[in-house]
Amino acid sequence: MAREFSTVGVVGLGTMGAGIVEVFARNGIDVVAVEISAPALERGRATLKGSTDRAVAKGKLAEADRDALHERVHFAVGLDALHSVDLVIEAVPEHLDLKQRIFAELDRVCRPETILATNTSSLSVTEISVATSRPNQVIGIHFFNPAPVMKLVEVVRTVVTAPEVVADVEALCARLGKVDVTINDRAGFIANALLFGYLNHAVAMFESHYATREDIDAAMKLGCGLPMGPLALMDLIGLDTAYEILDTMYRRGGRDRRHAPVPLLKQMVTAGLLGRKSGRGFYTYERPGSPVVVPDETTPLATDAALADGARAIAKVGVVGSGTMATGIIEVFAKAGYEVVSVTRGMEKSAKVCEAVKTSLNKGVVRGKLAEADRDAALGRISWSATLDHLADVDLVVEAVVEELSVKKALFASLDEICKPGVVLATTTSSLPVIDVAMATQRPADVVGLHFFNPAPVMPLVEVVRTIRTSPEATATARAVCAALGKTGVVCGDRSGFIVNALLFPYLNDAVKMLEASYSTADDIDHAMKLGCGYPMGPFELLDVVGLDVSLAIQRELYLELREPGFAPAPLLEHLVTAGYLGRKTRRGFRDHAHR
Ligand SMILES: NC(=O)c1ccc[n+]([C@@H]2O[C@H](COP(=O)([O-])OP(=O)(O)OC[C@H]3O[C@@H](n4cnc5c(N)ncnc54)[C@H](O)[C@@H]3O)[C@@H](O)[C@H]2O)c1
Repeated sequence: MAREFSTVGVVGLGTMGAGIVEVFARNGIDVVAVEISAPALERGRATLKGSTDRAVAKGKLAEADRDALHERVHFAVGLDALHSVDLVIEAVPEHLDLKQRIFAELDRVCRPETILATNTSSLSVTEISVATSRPNQVIGIHFFNPAPVMKLVEVVRTVVTAPEVVADVEALCARLGKVDVTINDRAGFIANALLFGYLNHAVAMFESHYATREDIDAAMKLGCGLPMGPLALMDLIGLDTAYEILDTMYRRGGRDRRHAPVPLLKQMVTAGLLGRKSGRGFYTYERPGSPVVVPDETTPLATDAALADGARAIAKVGVVGSGTMATGIIEVFAKAGYEVVSVTRGMEKSAKVCEAVKTSLNKGVVRGKLAEADRDAALGRISWSATLDHLADVDLVVEAVVEELSVKKALFASLDEICKPGVVLATTTSSLPVIDVAMATQRPADVVGLHFFNPAPVMPLVEVVRTIRTSPEATATARAVCAALGKTGVVCGDRSGFIVNALLFPYLNDAVKMLEASYSTADDIDHAMKLGCGYPMGPFELLDVVGLDVSLAIQRELYLELREPGFAPAPLLEHLVTAGYLGRKTRRGFRDHAHR
């Protein structure tokens, strides 16, 4: 029989603590909510009230239930109020000495059988536990932000945590409607160990002006389907908390430089820019604690006029290539009203591409998303050719041929001879340096990258890559074209992986390393990222879909270009590729898909 928890204590009512109080009280458990001072207590009370009022306004909580919830919460200053609770969860700032002091005091104040839990994200639960005389009753209960929403709880057992304490806490998580994964005490546990390298990398991109905050966030939301971009997430977590987590992970996690907090973070924390809780972080909020972003001095002007500033007029577009990407891109341009010249290496290939475009457009008609007349008009705008000479009068060329530098360079040299002056020449490469392609022409200022995502007609994101030679007009033109296609164009520099792949693949690679180290299972890691961070797929699900060979190739490129030791491909990934386990396409990758 699992132990019955009728009253729990929560220490610290900040970003996490206030949410944790709500989780318990919503599930019929009495809570003693403790803070360090009367003003801090009032802040915590106000956070709880704001959150439950919002739930009522959204129809997710009945007024009577809200009132009952509040009745279950007793607020107090100081730890003495916790003398008779069954379990305490500590959620004070991420400092080891502070947490150890609090645990020593809890040990004195609480009954001998009380379980003492920490919500730490990165500190050693073991080190916290030895500040008490009952380390076997100390455990990590790591909630995710926002606690009332995110389903995951990481239960962290140390080498001395009693098995029955683990079992009692697991049963409690189930009662709270949470999904738990139980793991050993390691810096960052599952989710943060995979998340924070990525977040820190995104801050480094922002700090180096590689891309704007809006573009970095839009890229990860639209390119990967994440619920928030990394900088908006940093603001939600709190920059002071994020700094401490990174710092601890750096020191505890083998001094991986990717966890060394980017200098900008420290500066922002010192300046009081802590994210949502202080009303300003990477973004500016309506007021402290508000989730509503308001424009500030770096907010870009979103008007069409601003987007088109300096952009050249584009009416006719050439698309070179006959693969999946070229086919999708032809469809996208034709549907958006552009005249399109498709160039392949032979009329047979053209016929195939034409069939594929027709099939795709017909699907749109069958699904009721496209009128028959619009389909016919789109097809009527496309002309099919097997010679580049037909690109003499286009305004934009999008190249989507095989991913080989020599082939692309030869093609761009030809385009340079054939196309009229002022044409924007774009490559869809996902891994080659755009500048190499640009320098094959006499007009590198007119060359950009237009990195579409697959399937192009569906995915809303395009990365607009500007090289050190790209003119502002060419960039503006590319961005305006993306907008006219109904896509979001994000502008970034010409570095391996651009924004999305550079941020995504090291995270996937880290997940493989975690599996390889036997810290957790593929299922639990996938669960943790989906339920703790709201990702649409777990890393192993995604790797099997993308293809392990493709993922390995991208990771190798990143490693070669940036020489970051942490980017070295996971040996397990290399072995699976060598063994021919490439993911869904070979029916076996991290999982066996043959029988599914
Ligand atoms: N922010 C997140 O997204 C997140 C997610 C999961 C876990 N965590 C972890 O939760 C813990 C709390 O982080 P946070 O972001 O909520 O911090 P926070 O700064 O928002 O809140 C901390 C609260 O603790 C209070 N406090 C400080 N000293 C105290 C004391 N001696 N007694 C009682 N209260 C005291 C402060 O007044 C403040 O209200 C940290 O260990 C953090 O790593 C944070």
